[in-house]
Amino acid sequence: MFRSASYRLVSCRGLATNATKNLTIGLIPGDGIGKEVIPAGRQVLENLNPKHGLSFNFIDLQAGFQTFLDTGKALPDETVKVLKEQCQGALFGAVQSPTTKVEGYSSPIVALRKALSLYANVRPVKSVSGTNDRPVDMIIIRENTEDLYIKIEKTYKDPATGTRVAEATKRITEVATRRIATIALDIALQRLKNNGQATLTVTHKSNVLSQSDGLFREICKDVYESNKNKYGGITYNEQIVDSMVYRMFREPECFDVVVAPNLYGDILSDGAAALVGSLGVVPSANVGPEIVIGEPCHGSAPDIAGKGIANPIATIRSTALMLEFLGFNAAAQDIHQAVDANIREGRVKTADLGGDATTQQVTDDILARL
Ligand code: NAI
Ligand code: MG
Repeated sequence: MFRSASYRLVSCRGLATNATKNLTIGLIPGDGIGKEVIPAGRQVLENLNPKHGLSFNFIDLQAGFQTFLDTGKALPDETVKVLKEQCQGALFGAVQSPTTKVEGYSSPIVALRKALSLYANVRPVKSVSGTNDRPVDMIIIRENTEDLYIKIEKTYKDPATGTRVAEATKRITEVATRRIATIALDIALQRLKNNGQATLTVTHKSNVLSQSDGLFREICKDVYESNKNKYGGITYNEQIVDSMVYRMFREPECFDVVVAPNLYGDILSDGAAALVGSLGVVPSANVGPEIVIGEPCHGSAPDIAGKGIANPIATIRSTALMLEFLGFNAAAQDIHQAVDANIREGRVKTADLGGDATTQQVTDDILARL
């Protein structure tokens, strides 16, 4: 289990002294199954063991494609303002982004990560012991603010052929790479303390993109090499992204902490979800200096939305991750244990894991174990 107890990365309002145990949490369900799984995260927080002494105020917030259709804005200013000024943490469901360009629409989660400086997306992918053919215990640290996701794109007519050309800018900066490499190494250091060993794998494609991915690779290595006194116990590896995918499926046990630019991190973590049974069980935390936003790795799943059968576990684990990064590790571990017990027993599970339980039945089973 991923533990970050001794290392709180955020200095949220009111948490500076750790005296505050009343937390204000923004709830942003978004679209599709986001609306069905976020209530599970809320119920888990409401049912935490009183021994943790935590209490919560919840604020319902809007974002998503439906919000765009209703108001003309996918991410209302009010949502950002409330998150910035009032919340220590938040839970984000998923948004349904159209695959073709819709004038004026842009994905609100990408914008939110930028607006709140949520520079790291931390994605643990872990099997529950005894339930997987091969144990998987990796944690993908995805850079969250740049790369191709800065969304600078243009389409123009090639004068030579008269046909369209589309271009996108991939931006890698030294500043963002340095901070993502640092948090990845800090997490590896935590795992070194917990497990007695840790490996950082830097994922890139600098054999082709020698400048952009080349800079990513160079800076990650520099952060490690320049801080050998601190990180020297961690094994440092590099892996080109395409063979990374191959190796991840062939030998998942070889990977521990993986750091990747935004796009590769996104793709790798969805792929890694297949190693542990379903996208419906893989959580993430968007981490920055001010606030932590828990967010399941999956999208709005239009194919199952509205049926009440979405797996709530990714969201419930994201809720625990949010608490971990806010420094409430004991409460987080209770949630992880309840989820692991549900998976290990394998009796109450949703269709993605081969069962027939509803979202609420799985949530209730986990609540009963808390
Ligand atoms: P998806 O993650 O929504 O679904 C992929 C597959 O996994 C589907 O078969 C779905 O039913 C299944 N699945 C996902 N979560 C599940 C859960 N909790 N329980 C059971 N089954 C689950 O990815 P897809 O289909 O590529 O994208 C759908 C929409 O989601 C798109 O509009 C996309 O833009 C959006 N999206 C939003 C994200 C976000 O808000 N952070 C992230 C990824 C996609
Ligand atoms: Mg994704």
